[in-house]
Amino acid sequence: MSQAFDALCDYLRRQSGLVMDQSKKYLVDSRVMPIVRRERLSGLEELVALLQKGQSPKLAKDVIEAMTVNETYFFRDKAPFDQFRSVMLPALLTARQNEKRLRIWSAAASTGQEAYSLAMILEEFAAKLAGWKIDIVATDLSEQVLEKAKKGIYSQFEVQRGLPTPMLLRHFNQIGESWQLSDHIRSKVTFRQLNLLSDFTVLGRFDVILCRNVLIYFDAARKTDILARMTRVLAPDGFLTLGASESLIGLKTDLVAHPEHRGIFARAAAAAASTPRFTPRTDQPSATLPPGFGATALSAAARLRTTG
Ligand SMILES: C[S@@+](CC[C@H](N)C(=O)[O-])C[C@H]1O[C@@H](n2cnc3c(N)ncnc32)[C@H](O)[C@@H]1O
Repeated sequence: MSQAFDALCDYLRRQSGLVMDQSKKYLVDSRVMPIVRRERLSGLEELVALLQKGQSPKLAKDVIEAMTVNETYFFRDKAPFDQFRSVMLPALLTARQNEKRLRIWSAAASTGQEAYSLAMILEEFAAKLAGWKIDIVATDLSEQVLEKAKKGIYSQFEVQRGLPTPMLLRHFNQIGESWQLSDHIRSKVTFRQLNLLSDFTVLGRFDVILCRNVLIYFDAARKTDILARMTRVLAPDGFLTLGASESLIGLKTDLVAHPEHRGIFARAAAAAASTPRFTPRTDQPSATLPPGFGATALSAAARLRTTG
């Protein structure tokens, strides 16, 4: 079992980035062993042997999906959505006033609550955004969660977690015990299956990227690689948001932390070019710094670029 467990961990790390150790063995019992029984296999060893042969994409998909953590909820952690409303959108509305185009990516979207939360916020700006073309692209490795996301149907429990009641009443229709998002909000989000380990340049360039609560499952090399590729598809003056418990500490990236808003990152080059969207700190000497960046942000940037 232990050898098969190690081989399964290795397989999952290569295919999805997920890093597991012995402490996650119970997850194999609860999530993978039911697949072993369903397929009438002799045990984990036989399952791993089949996966390694690579001849059963459906089996591979089922095992990988079974091991993903899909926890999410509307307006999760609140702050990123407040920042989207009060920091990112105002900056981008000004910066993109000529082209009137905005592209947003929810990079590990799970069952869609993150992307739909953004879509509901954008509705608050409907008047200002008249005539704008806005794409919200939501991707995930798991087809199963994307199926649910596309339907936009949530249980009473799911809509009670983080969703303000006025938004529930405005954007959802009750169907029996469940709640379905309006066609209008659902039509704002495009869902696509995507493994972050693979090339994602096909998605195009984004002004805002949310990559929350997924990198925590990967090792440092994977995180660094994904963040480097994300930085390349982030507009020079775009914003990247990570999860509340995630940071860039120990990773070598070309991103810098926002001086005032925890969890927002920008391209280091844009910060150096001193874009005005970062509000200057008044408690730091600013004469020798690019406008908008206090000493804290610059030293954080220097630290990030020299670590890892
Ligand atoms: C914990 S959820 C995070 C959902 C949402 N971003 C949030 O913060 O609430 C993590 C999601 O990452 C997805 N995921 C895991 N590995 C992935 C990979 N290699 N590529 C794309 N998505 C992945 C999982 O399927 C899962 O839905």
